[in-house]
Amino acid sequence: MFMKERMKPKVNVLTFPSEAELNAAAAGLIVGLIQTKPDAVLGLATGGTPIGIYEELVAAYRKKLVSFRRVVTFNLDEYVGLAPGHPQSYRSYMRRHLFDHIDADPARIHIPDSTAARPEEECARYDALLAAAGRIDLQLLGIGHNGHIGFNEPDRSLPFGTHVVRLAEQTRAANARFFASPEEVPTHAITMGVGPILHARTVLLIAKGADKADILYRALTGEITTECPASLLQLHPRLIVMADQEAGRRFR
Ligand code: PGA
Repeated sequence: MFMKERMKPKVNVLTFPSEAELNAAAAGLIVGLIQTKPDAVLGLATGGTPIGIYEELVAAYRKKLVSFRRVVTFNLDEYVGLAPGHPQSYRSYMRRHLFDHIDADPARIHIPDSTAARPEEECARYDALLAAAGRIDLQLLGIGHNGHIGFNEPDRSLPFGTHVVRLAEQTRAANARFFASPEEVPTHAITMGVGPILHARTVLLIAKGADKADILYRALTGEITTECPASLLQLHPRLIVMADQEAGRRFR
Protein backbone atom coordinates (compact mmCIF):
# COMPACT_ATOMS: atom_id res chain seq x y z
CA MET A 1 0.00 0.00 0.00
CA PHE A 2 1.25 3.48 -0.87
CA MET A 3 1.85 5.49 2.27
CA LYS A 4 2.13 9.20 1.91
CA GLU A 5 5.31 10.39 3.67
CA ARG A 6 4.48 13.11 6.13
CA MET A 7 6.77 16.06 5.85
CA LYS A 8 8.67 16.26 9.12
CA PRO A 9 10.61 19.24 10.37
CA LYS A 10 14.30 18.50 10.65
CA VAL A 11 15.15 19.76 14.08
CA ASN A 12 18.52 18.66 15.29
CA VAL A 13 18.63 18.26 19.05
CA LEU A 14 22.10 18.04 20.56
CA THR A 15 21.93 16.05 23.77
CA PHE A 16 24.77 16.22 26.26
CA PRO A 17 25.81 13.61 28.81
CA SER A 18 26.01 16.20 31.55
CA GLU A 19 24.75 19.67 32.30
CA ALA A 20 28.34 20.88 32.60
CA GLU A 21 29.05 19.80 29.02
CA LEU A 22 25.88 21.46 27.79
CA ASN A 23 26.79 24.70 29.57
CA ALA A 24 30.30 24.63 28.11
CA ALA A 25 29.02 24.01 24.57
CA ALA A 26 26.41 26.77 24.76
CA ALA A 27 28.86 29.26 26.24
CA GLY A 28 31.45 28.24 23.64
CA LEU A 29 29.03 29.12 20.87
CA ILE A 30 28.40 32.54 22.39
CA VAL A 31 32.10 33.21 23.02
CA GLY A 32 32.92 32.16 19.45
CA LEU A 33 30.33 34.57 18.11
CA ILE A 34 31.73 37.47 20.14
CA GLN A 35 35.29 36.63 19.12
CA THR A 36 34.33 36.95 15.46
CA LYS A 37 31.86 39.81 16.00
CA PRO A 38 32.83 41.88 19.06
CA ASP A 39 29.75 44.11 18.72
CA ALA A 40 27.32 41.18 18.45
CA VAL A 41 23.73 41.70 19.55
CA LEU A 42 22.71 39.03 22.06
CA GLY A 43 19.19 38.20 23.17
CA LEU A 44 19.43 36.93 26.74
CA ALA A 45 17.20 34.81 28.92
CA THR A 46 16.68 34.37 32.65
CA GLY A 47 15.27 31.54 34.79
CA GLY A 48 17.08 28.47 36.05
CA THR A 49 18.20 27.23 32.62
CA PRO A 50 20.92 29.74 31.63
CA ILE A 51 22.61 30.14 35.02
CA GLY A 52 25.34 27.58 34.31
CA ILE A 53 25.89 29.06 30.85
CA TYR A 54 26.41 32.50 32.37
CA GLU A 55 28.92 30.98 34.80
CA GLU A 56 30.86 29.67 31.82
CA LEU A 57 30.75 33.08 30.13
CA VAL A 58 32.13 34.69 33.29
CA ALA A 59 34.88 32.04 33.39
CA ALA A 60 35.76 32.74 29.75
CA TYR A 61 35.93 36.47 30.50
CA ARG A 62 38.19 35.85 33.51
CA LYS A 63 40.49 33.77 31.33
CA LYS A 64 40.58 36.74 28.94
CA LEU A 65 39.12 34.67 26.12
CA VAL A 66 36.44 37.25 25.44
CA SER A 67 35.49 40.86 26.09
CA PHE A 68 31.86 41.99 26.31
CA ARG A 69 32.74 45.68 26.07
CA ARG A 70 31.09 46.21 22.68
CA VAL A 71 28.41 43.55 22.96
CA VAL A 72 24.80 44.76 22.90
CA THR A 73 22.29 42.77 24.94
CA PHE A 74 18.52 42.62 25.09
CA ASN A 75 16.81 40.62 27.77
CA LEU A 76 13.68 38.81 26.76
CA ASP A 77 11.46 39.91 29.58
CA GLU A 78 10.92 41.45 32.98
CA TYR A 79 8.25 41.33 35.65
CA VAL A 80 5.93 44.31 36.01
CA GLY A 81 5.66 46.06 39.33
CA LEU A 82 8.65 44.80 41.30
CA ALA A 83 10.41 47.48 43.31
CA PRO A 84 13.71 48.76 41.87
CA GLY A 85 16.48 46.45 43.02
CA HIS A 86 14.09 43.63 44.00
CA PRO A 87 16.31 40.54 44.07
CA GLN A 88 13.93 38.60 41.81
CA SER A 89 13.71 41.25 39.14
CA TYR A 90 15.45 40.07 36.00
CA ARG A 91 17.64 43.14 36.16
CA SER A 92 18.96 41.94 39.54
CA TYR A 93 19.25 38.39 38.19
CA MET A 94 21.35 39.53 35.24
CA ARG A 95 23.67 41.56 37.46
CA ARG A 96 24.06 38.65 39.89
CA HIS A 97 24.72 35.98 37.29
CA LEU A 98 26.49 37.90 34.54
CA PHE A 99 26.79 41.64 34.28
CA ASP A 100 28.51 42.31 37.64
CA HIS A 101 31.28 39.90 36.67
CA ILE A 102 32.13 40.93 33.10
CA ASP A 103 33.13 44.11 31.28
CA ALA A 104 29.76 44.76 29.63
CA ASP A 105 28.99 48.43 28.92
CA PRO A 106 25.85 49.39 30.93
CA ALA A 107 24.79 51.64 28.04
CA ARG A 108 24.55 48.61 25.77
CA ILE A 109 22.56 46.44 28.20
CA HIS A 110 18.81 46.50 27.70
CA ILE A 111 16.19 45.05 30.02
CA PRO A 112 12.55 46.16 30.12
CA ASP A 113 11.93 48.44 33.11
CA SER A 114 9.86 46.66 35.78
CA THR A 115 9.12 49.95 37.48
CA ALA A 116 7.78 51.84 34.45
CA ALA A 117 4.65 53.79 35.41
CA ARG A 118 3.22 53.13 31.94
CA PRO A 119 4.26 49.64 30.88
CA GLU A 120 2.76 50.13 27.38
CA GLU A 121 5.10 53.05 26.81
CA GLU A 122 7.98 50.98 28.08
CA CYS A 123 7.12 48.34 25.45
CA ALA A 124 7.26 50.96 22.69
CA ARG A 125 10.59 52.22 24.02
CA TYR A 126 11.97 48.70 24.03
CA ASP A 127 10.83 48.04 20.48
CA ALA A 128 12.49 51.26 19.34
CA LEU A 129 15.76 50.15 20.93
CA LEU A 130 15.49 46.74 19.29
CA ALA A 131 14.78 48.31 15.93
CA ALA A 132 17.77 50.64 16.27
CA ALA A 133 20.07 47.74 17.15
CA GLY A 134 19.09 45.76 14.05
CA ARG A 135 18.83 41.99 14.03
CA ILE A 136 19.71 39.98 17.12
CA ASP A 137 22.72 37.81 16.24
CA LEU A 138 22.03 35.11 18.78
CA GLN A 139 18.94 34.63 20.88
CA LEU A 140 19.37 32.43 23.93
CA LEU A 141 16.10 30.80 24.97
CA GLY A 142 14.73 28.49 27.62
CA ILE A 143 11.36 26.85 27.30
CA GLY A 144 8.47 27.04 29.76
CA HIS A 145 6.48 23.96 30.73
CA ASN A 146 3.61 25.30 28.68
CA GLY A 147 5.85 26.05 25.69
CA HIS A 148 6.32 29.73 26.40
CA ILE A 149 9.39 31.53 25.07
CA GLY A 150 10.28 34.70 26.89
CA PHE A 151 6.94 35.38 28.52
CA ASN A 152 5.03 34.77 25.30
CA GLU A 153 2.39 32.54 26.86
CA PRO A 154 0.21 30.16 24.82
CA ASP A 155 -2.60 32.11 23.18
CA ARG A 156 -4.83 32.17 20.10
CA SER A 157 -2.56 34.79 18.59
CA LEU A 158 0.69 36.46 19.55
CA PRO A 159 1.91 40.03 18.97
CA PHE A 160 5.05 40.64 16.94
CA GLY A 161 6.60 43.14 19.32
CA THR A 162 7.12 43.85 22.98
CA HIS A 163 3.95 43.70 25.03
CA VAL A 164 2.51 43.33 28.51
CA VAL A 165 1.31 39.82 29.36
CA ARG A 166 -0.69 38.32 32.16
CA LEU A 167 1.40 35.40 33.32
CA ALA A 168 -0.13 31.94 33.10
CA GLU A 169 -0.79 30.45 36.53
CA GLN A 170 1.49 27.55 35.54
CA THR A 171 4.29 30.05 34.94
CA ARG A 172 3.69 31.83 38.26
CA ALA A 173 3.70 28.47 40.04
CA ALA A 174 6.95 27.43 38.30
CA ASN A 175 8.63 30.70 39.27
CA ALA A 176 7.31 30.71 42.85
CA ARG A 177 10.45 28.79 43.85
CA PHE A 178 12.42 32.01 43.51
CA PHE A 179 10.08 34.05 45.75
CA ALA A 180 9.33 33.95 49.49
CA SER A 181 5.70 33.02 48.78
CA PRO A 182 3.67 32.16 45.65
CA GLU A 183 1.54 35.31 46.05
CA GLU A 184 4.65 37.44 45.64
CA VAL A 185 5.15 36.33 42.02
CA PRO A 186 3.99 39.23 39.86
CA THR A 187 0.87 38.69 37.79
CA HIS A 188 2.16 40.57 34.75
CA ALA A 189 5.34 40.91 32.79
CA ILE A 190 6.75 42.75 29.80
CA THR A 191 8.08 40.45 27.13
CA MET A 192 9.79 40.82 23.81
CA GLY A 193 7.42 39.54 21.12
CA VAL A 194 8.03 36.51 18.93
CA GLY A 195 8.93 38.82 16.02
CA PRO A 196 12.48 39.74 17.06
CA ILE A 197 13.04 36.24 18.43
CA LEU A 198 12.21 34.65 15.08
CA HIS A 199 14.25 37.30 13.24
CA ALA A 200 17.38 36.49 15.24
CA ARG A 201 20.16 35.14 13.03
CA THR A 202 20.61 32.17 15.35
CA VAL A 203 18.31 30.86 18.03
CA LEU A 204 19.91 28.75 20.75
CA LEU A 205 17.21 26.87 22.63
CA ILE A 206 18.29 25.19 25.86
CA ALA A 207 16.32 22.60 27.80
CA LYS A 208 17.38 20.94 31.02
CA GLY A 209 15.68 18.38 33.23
CA ALA A 210 13.12 15.60 32.89
CA ASP A 211 10.25 18.03 33.39
CA LYS A 212 11.09 19.67 30.03
CA ALA A 213 11.22 16.45 27.97
CA ASP A 214 7.57 16.36 26.89
CA ILE A 215 7.19 20.04 26.08
CA LEU A 216 10.49 20.09 24.17
CA TYR A 217 9.34 17.15 22.06
CA ARG A 218 5.90 18.62 21.48
CA ALA A 219 7.32 22.04 20.57
CA LEU A 220 9.81 20.68 18.06
CA THR A 221 7.81 17.89 16.45
CA GLY A 222 4.18 18.83 17.00
CA GLU A 223 1.82 21.24 15.35
CA ILE A 224 3.15 24.75 14.79
CA THR A 225 0.79 26.91 16.78
CA THR A 226 0.75 30.00 18.98
CA GLU A 227 -0.86 27.74 21.60
CA CYS A 228 2.70 26.42 21.98
CA PRO A 229 4.89 29.46 21.25
CA ALA A 230 8.12 27.43 21.14
CA SER A 231 6.67 25.45 18.22
CA LEU A 232 7.16 28.58 16.07
CA LEU A 233 10.87 27.88 16.34
CA GLN A 234 10.39 24.99 13.91
CA LEU A 235 10.16 27.72 11.27
CA HIS A 236 13.53 29.19 12.15
CA PRO A 237 16.28 28.51 9.60
CA ARG A 238 19.08 28.41 12.16
CA LEU A 239 17.77 26.85 15.33
CA ILE A 240 20.25 25.09 17.59
CA VAL A 241 18.73 22.98 20.34
CA MET A 242 20.86 21.82 23.25
CA ALA A 243 19.40 19.51 25.86
CA ASP A 244 20.69 17.45 28.72
CA GLN A 245 20.00 13.69 28.75
CA GLU A 246 16.75 14.10 30.64
CA ALA A 247 15.20 16.90 28.58
CA GLY A 248 16.37 15.35 25.30
CA ARG A 249 15.37 11.78 26.05
CA ARG A 250 12.43 11.68 23.62
CA PHE A 251 14.73 12.46 20.71
CA ARG A 252 17.06 9.55 21.26
P1 PGA B 1 13.45 27.91 33.67
O1 PGA B 1 12.39 28.74 32.85
O2 PGA B 1 14.76 28.12 32.97
O3 PGA B 1 13.45 28.51 35.04
O4 PGA B 1 13.00 26.49 33.64
C1 PGA B 1 12.38 28.63 31.47
C2 PGA B 1 11.31 29.52 30.92
O5 PGA B 1 10.31 29.74 31.61
O6 PGA B 1 11.47 30.01 29.79
